Amino acid sequence: MSYQDFWDRQSETVEAAIRAVDGSSDELTVQHTGIWTANQVAHALDLQATDRVLELGCGVGRIGKELAPRCEQWVGSDISPNMLKAAAQRLDGLTNIDFKQLERSSFDGVFADDSFDKAYSVAVFCHMDKEDLYLYLRELHRIIRPAGVIYIETWNLAHPVGWRRWELEVGNWSQLAAGDRKDAGRNQFCHPAEFALYVERAGFELLAQHSNSPWTQIVAAKGLSDERREDLQSHMDRHADAIAYSETFSSCFEKAMDLHNGEIDIAELHAFLDSIADTEEAALFRPYIEASWGEGRGK
Ligand SMILES: C[S@@+](CC[C@H](N)C(=O)[O-])C[C@H]1O[C@@H](n2cnc3c(N)ncnc32)[C@H](O)[C@@H]1O
Repeated sequence: MSYQDFWDRQSETVEAAIRAVDGSSDELTVQHTGIWTANQVAHALDLQATDRVLELGCGVGRIGKELAPRCEQWVGSDISPNMLKAAAQRLDGLTNIDFKQLERSSFDGVFADDSFDKAYSVAVFCHMDKEDLYLYLRELHRIIRPAGVIYIETWNLAHPVGWRRWELEVGNWSQLAAGDRKDAGRNQFCHPAEFALYVERAGFELLAQHSNSPWTQIVAAKGLSDERREDLQSHMDRHADAIAYSETFSSCFEKAMDLHNGEIDIAELHAFLDSIADTEEAALFRPYIEASWGEGRGK
């Protein structure tokens, strides 16, 4: 099954598409997670009001809805026409946005050389083959202007929770009939050094990499002057905490995984969230988990 079929089948309605992008069960929840991720991305990109910004794999525009009001133009690109339809519906009313449908891991004929100031991709490289990941990185390098910045992330095999998440995939695969192909859009994982290698070989210079979570996150740039490099390095240092997933975020994610696997019940999860009640992460995860799993769904 192609990437397009895989994602189109999960996004026949806006509600289904919202669930497919990050497990959110309704509009309010996806807005909540969208605000969180958009803040992370804005810090990573050093987002400016004058920036023309591209999202690769925009899904329902979860992040774009929040970022578009903060930049000159936001362009959402995706392989799935159904996702783009859902995004257009959710972002209706915003005037500085555009959408492009992609084919075959390329921006060829879609975006010109040096045509964006910034670009990002969240929860997309973790759903494709490494060859496609690398092809897209080379394309991102082509369409970003000199001194432009990208932010990208994928599953981190070197983190204990990332490893656990990978073993879940191994378990799923082991249950499939021998003749069944692995899904095109299944979860895929990188070691941080491997991810950095692809980014550098695509022509980018690394500005920051955060790997102390189930995700490995990279901020990189193209063709920096010494002065701009210094500026950006100091920006990345100052905002590292706003960009990197925190240990608390990783723990929340692991607990959500435990609940999903039936290893803890909803009461245990609430007790954990109560123990970190004063954190932003608890405020993010509590409504997300309640809406996604509900009181009745845990064991
Ligand atoms: C898990 S969703 C994440 C959406 C969005 N980035 C977010 O964080 O809300 C993955 C998105 O990537 C898109 N996608 C998957 N494979 C792709 C590919 N090869 N090229 C472009 N988009 C792809 C899917 O259609 C889907 O919208």
